[in-house]
Amino acid sequence: MDKILTIDGPSASGKGSLTRAIAIALNFNVLDSGLLYRAYAYFYEKGVTTDHIGKKIQGLSFRFNSGDVQVFDGIEEITSLLRSENTAKAASALSSQKETRKNLLNIQRSFYNGNGLVADGRDMGTVVFPNARLKIFLTASSEVRAKRRHIELQNRGQEVNMRDLIEDIEERDLRDRTRTLSPLIPAEDSIVIDSSSMSLDEVLSFTKKLAKKEFDK
Ligand code: C5P
Repeated sequence: MDKILTIDGPSASGKGSLTRAIAIALNFNVLDSGLLYRAYAYFYEKGVTTDHIGKKIQGLSFRFNSGDVQVFDGIEEITSLLRSENTAKAASALSSQKETRKNLLNIQRSFYNGNGLVADGRDMGTVVFPNARLKIFLTASSEVRAKRRHIELQNRGQEVNMRDLIEDIEERDLRDRTRTLSPLIPAEDSIVIDSSSMSLDEVLSFTKKLAKKEFDK
């Protein structure tokens, strides 16, 4: 079994915050796989051909800054572009294609160097790291998730309408859940956490207990 904690779940379920906090607590590296799908969409929209996108993504620099990830394409910071709802939509559409998933598979696996990894996504526990030692599936109602995403976007200086946000989130979830390749489903050996009425601290302390039991052996 690999020294990996996978955290899968739908958009805005709190995976990103949980991933960063638990990675700091365990001193593990982080893989934000959604960001790779977003980068894939960013290059695709710029007209880069799909057989070159992998190389382009490997050329990006990911900087960890006070618990957040900043992404640079050369000297240009593209974090807000990648985090926008438009890029999320494009990423979601491209992510159902076999070629996209194949191009990103080894890039995602290369984030594990044996030293401990928290991997956040949709298929981390089912497809990318099936041998992970601990698997979490984090979910919450679509209203709660839309509220959380609204606050996140506001903090990033982006204004979006709440009703549009709920619609977008539900549409994206449906597509992620019903696609043939790597659908969004909990791995059989995952622990499902519904965080609708839990704070990040509550989810974090629950996950810490599980991780302590699993990784302190
Ligand atoms: O997690 P995030 O919202 O950044 O992901 C953007 C999109 O990338 C998701 O809507 C999903 O369609 C896709 N994705 C995926 N598999 C992953 C991570 C993200 O299909 N492991």
